[in-house]
Amino acid sequence: MSDRSGTGPDLERFFASADEARSCAVFTGAGVSAESGVPTFRGKEGMWKDFKAEELATPEAFERDPDRVLEWYAWRREKIADIEPNPGHEALARAEERFEEFTLITQNIDGLHEQAGSRDVIELHGNILRDRCHVCGSRRGPGEDGPRCTCGGRYRPDVVWFGEMLPQQALERAFQAARSADVFLSVGTSTLVYPAAYLPFMAHEAGAFTVEVNPERTPFSDQADLVLRGASGSWLPRLFPREG
Ligand code: OAD
Repeated sequence: MSDRSGTGPDLERFFASADEARSCAVFTGAGVSAESGVPTFRGKEGMWKDFKAEELATPEAFERDPDRVLEWYAWRREKIADIEPNPGHEALARAEERFEEFTLITQNIDGLHEQAGSRDVIELHGNILRDRCHVCGSRRGPGEDGPRCTCGGRYRPDVVWFGEMLPQQALERAFQAARSADVFLSVGTSTLVYPAAYLPFMAHEAGAFTVEVNPERTPFSDQADLVLRGASGSWLPRLFPREG
């Protein structure tokens, strides 16, 4: 049996739904990595040299001034080089074992879910540790250098920028998981950036028991069946305790 002591009536509602559930989907944003030291996008530390993410993470910015955009990514890669998953990521890796079907969908590009042991992560916004050619799309892993691909195009981080399409297959899998989930958790996301932000609303529409974990209100808060205000690193281990 897992330890569910001291959980209170709110968490009892979650456990009752989770015990009945066949499928669970979890949708994460920058907030789950905040306690690992990764700056969120819309928080104060997300700024770099007075630029907002929206001014740098675009194909136009890259075409206009690739060196500046790459310098920003070099700064962000450096910031995440030494970080470790936190108890929130670890709890989500454990959650994979608990349901017949489990889907983890993330907007994060830091790779921390995989590092914590989650095996099948849908990365809606790509992964900052990889590069891809801006022209032909071919990918390369960490450690491979040089600004240009054999096709002559410039390498850029393998992430989705404002104004770009999300990877279609990943998005379809995520929509499908949200529509079919019995329990759906929306964790550490401002729920402002579409199309990813549709996911919790879709799950709610389809009848899932929905939970929001976030220290602040979001546009989804009013529709969530259960709102857990606070840090994901403290709530998620209570939702998915270690078996013992
Ligand atoms: P945001 O920076 O917009 O929002 C982070 C959310 O995490 C906020 O709602 C915070 O209240 C919450 N938060 C902060 N600390 C937390 C903690 N310890 N535990 C739980 N929640 C916490 O980040 P996202 O919602 O991920 O897109 O942003 C969505 C997308 O916007 C990103 O993927 C990125 C960005 O532009 C692309 O790069 C395409």
